[in-house]
Amino acid sequence: MSETSYTTTNSGAPVASDEHSQSVGADGAIALHDHYLVEKLAQFNRERVPERVVHAKGGGAFGRFVTTGDVSRFTRAALFQPGVETEMLARFSTVAGEQGSPDTWRDPRGFALKFYTSEGNYDLVGNNTPVFFIRDGIKFPDFIRSQKRLPGSHLRDHDMQWDFWTLSPESAHQVTWLMGDRGLPGSWRHMDGFGSHTYQWVNAAGERFWVKYHFKTDQGIEILTQDQADQIAGEDADFHIRDLSDAITRGEHPSWTLSVQVMPYADAAGYRFNPFDLTKVWPHSDYPLIEVGKMTLDRNPENYFAQIEQATFAPSNFVPGIAASPDKMLLARIFSYADAHRYRVGTNHAQLPVNAPHAPVHTYSKEGAMRYTFNDADAPVYAPNSVGGAHADPARAAESNGWQSDGELVRAAATLHAEDDDFGQAGTLVREVLDDAARDRLVGNIIGHVSKVTRPELRARVIAYWTAVDETLGARVAAGLPPLV
Ligand code: HEM
Repeated sequence: MSETSYTTTNSGAPVASDEHSQSVGADGAIALHDHYLVEKLAQFNRERVPERVVHAKGGGAFGRFVTTGDVSRFTRAALFQPGVETEMLARFSTVAGEQGSPDTWRDPRGFALKFYTSEGNYDLVGNNTPVFFIRDGIKFPDFIRSQKRLPGSHLRDHDMQWDFWTLSPESAHQVTWLMGDRGLPGSWRHMDGFGSHTYQWVNAAGERFWVKYHFKTDQGIEILTQDQADQIAGEDADFHIRDLSDAITRGEHPSWTLSVQVMPYADAAGYRFNPFDLTKVWPHSDYPLIEVGKMTLDRNPENYFAQIEQATFAPSNFVPGIAASPDKMLLARIFSYADAHRYRVGTNHAQLPVNAPHAPVHTYSKEGAMRYTFNDADAPVYAPNSVGGAHADPARAAESNGWQSDGELVRAAATLHAEDDDFGQAGTLVREVLDDAARDRLVGNIIGHVSKVTRPELRARVIAYWTAVDETLGARVAAGLPPLV
């Protein structure tokens, strides 16, 4: 600010004092009509919106995505055409911790991206792991409650966490990632990101493909040991927010290279395991990586609350050429996020500058709390209309971005494929992907975590769980656990 500016009320009127309320004599009662005092106190009481029910602690930055490869044979999405550059926002987060919790608690990390494309916003809301703990969204609230706090003591509880995991054997692959090095990334800049789900791509000819997204960090992977993470948690709870912000301020703009695995539409039914099961990865030997482009983060938010806390990322934000798949987790998420946004930020959250598309909006949505954009006064408020209002594009209706399915309405696991199981890929990760040092850290991390489990019967179940992943691993965990006192 170059000139002296005087404090005003929210309505712009100059105020007489920032320090003294109006009172009846210097020592007397405070006047209710001191509306400036009332405004300050009332505004303060309303400074927060509810924190995200998961992924509450996080930070982010703006940047751009440039498509360097040619994947136009798989998708007609405008942002993935060769040479196209798209503005974007990224937000990274932990999952279970509340706002203010340490960035270095062991947890998956959120990897949420918003692309402001020429055909509307495309949000890809992923994690730093390619798989997840469960394969049906109906278990998500239970899973998250088991990771959060006990209702009475408000403490996090290892019994509750391991009880849920061992009763949900489909969690084994993701828990192996979590207890390994990826559960404690060195920084957000030094971790990979994944779309995790199988998504659908549709090309200009209407052909459909199944895809998985992989964002490889160009900074290289760095991790923290449990001891380092514990120490940092005490010294600097905001270690990862600070790292990203400082790097961008220094002009070190982190980048990630996006590649995709592409499965022809018809392969899915006969593939050896269910390709829509979020607890599985697709072996690269079956579906190799194809390079798409690069995302670079180069601009820190100017205001954390306006641009990060109020940012709303929704898996339902698709653009032409990108669509859903029969992954039951993804289908649940398509409902959940937009609902959370209406509650957490408000009905008109999409109008906030950070969430507003950079493409034109022609919607019949109107009014609601805090609405401030509106259509021309003579524009119709309903469709169909015969007075020149926007109308849906019949060409879109002809586009196929669904999939064949039929059958009774049931509650059942997805149809089994030959190699569907809970523990196989977790075992392969332990035996074939990790080296000796990483395996040793995994064993140490599991033992450290499980030693806080108090129920003997539950400990036995945990050992059986790791034995099912890998016999040697199970034996090492059993041998390393301190006796229960
Ligand atoms: C945040 C629900 C699974 C990644 C959230 C939020 C909800 C939610 C309600 C808070 C949204 C907000 O207030 O803005 C669910 C449900 C799931 C699920 C119901 C399962 C059916 C997943 C999976 C991933 C994921 C599988 C990753 C692959 C994230 C991320 C955020 C988030 C990164 C934070 C987004 C941000 O930075 O604003 N989730 N989630 N979630 N979720 Fe999920």
